[in-house]
Amino acid sequence: MAQSEQELPEGFRQLKTQVAGHTFEESNAEAVGLLQDSRAGCVLKPLGKPECGERELRFYESLASGDNDLALLRGHVPRFYGPLKLVVNRRERTFLRLEDLTRGMRQPCVMDVKMGKRTWDPAASLNKRKLEEAKYVKCKQELGLCLPGFQVYRPSRSDEEHPKEATILRHGKDYGKSLSVEGFKQTMALFFNISRDSRNRRAGTELLLNEVLRQLQEILAWFQRQRQLHFYASSLLICYDYARLGNPPMSQSLLNGHRSKEDDPASWVQVRMIDFAHVYPAEQGQPDENYMFGLRSLIQVVQSILHR
Ligand SMILES: Nc1ncnc2c1ncn2[C@@H]1O[C@H](COP(=O)(O)OP(=O)(O)OP(=O)(O)O)[C@@H](O)[C@H]1O
Ligand SMILES: [Mg+2]
Repeated sequence: MAQSEQELPEGFRQLKTQVAGHTFEESNAEAVGLLQDSRAGCVLKPLGKPECGERELRFYESLASGDNDLALLRGHVPRFYGPLKLVVNRRERTFLRLEDLTRGMRQPCVMDVKMGKRTWDPAASLNKRKLEEAKYVKCKQELGLCLPGFQVYRPSRSDEEHPKEATILRHGKDYGKSLSVEGFKQTMALFFNISRDSRNRRAGTELLLNEVLRQLQEILAWFQRQRQLHFYASSLLICYDYARLGNPPMSQSLLNGHRSKEDDPASWVQVRMIDFAHVYPAEQGQPDENYMFGLRSLIQVVQSILHR
């Protein structure tokens, strides 16, 4: 079945900016990826294998009614609008309705970074554990990070005359699995469009990197205080709008010396935690050192790009 031949309910389409995870497959009607409901500004994630899907649904529901630590986490994950049943390829499935983190972006750059040296959960079989340990070995063991996929807009050759023209580059998990630590760092620089560019673009890049760092630090601050949950095989989704990179806006309000909402880089840069199919209660009230190790090294990588 060609991707375009998927039988989708009216008003929904495949999420074009999906860079990793389970996707639609040509010859397998059972394989379902994320959908987009662009009018509502949300994406729909199919519930995964029964235990995993239920766990993720419970996680989002627990945030909605959660106590202090969980309530604070809400700002770092996509907003959740509840489950929804839809018929896809003639089979009814349950989806999670989530805020589309690329909403409103004209040229969305999206990177999925999987967190932690350990990506198998406490219930994993020995076999699953071995499979996970054999994947993304180089980056995962040293950095506690791996790269299942990304897409980035980059200036095309004719950029000097037509600065708005851009080409899109996409890579999936095979690329990520081949990366060394050095390759990972270079790929991050590529993703943030670091290059010999016009001065204007450099200013935009600096805004971008500082905003990414600010959001990463906030997530780290949350992890440093919480003792409730451990996140296995969870990702950070880093999204920004390439269309805003070359032109940090100079609105009237900024010229007058104060910032408006659209001048705030948070309006075009989003770093959010996603993929909660393997979230477990913390063992013996311990902090999630596994996730924090990856997060700290991601912060170091972004800092080294900013300061080079
Ligand atoms: N809220 C969101 N907004 C925009 N894009 C999203 C959002 N959630 C997920 N995506 C896209 O979909 C991809 C896959 O998402 P996710 O990791 O949650 O699914 P998965 O890996 O298939 O899940 P599972 O491990 O539960 O089977 C992400 O890499 C990202 O490109
Ligand atoms: Mg995933």
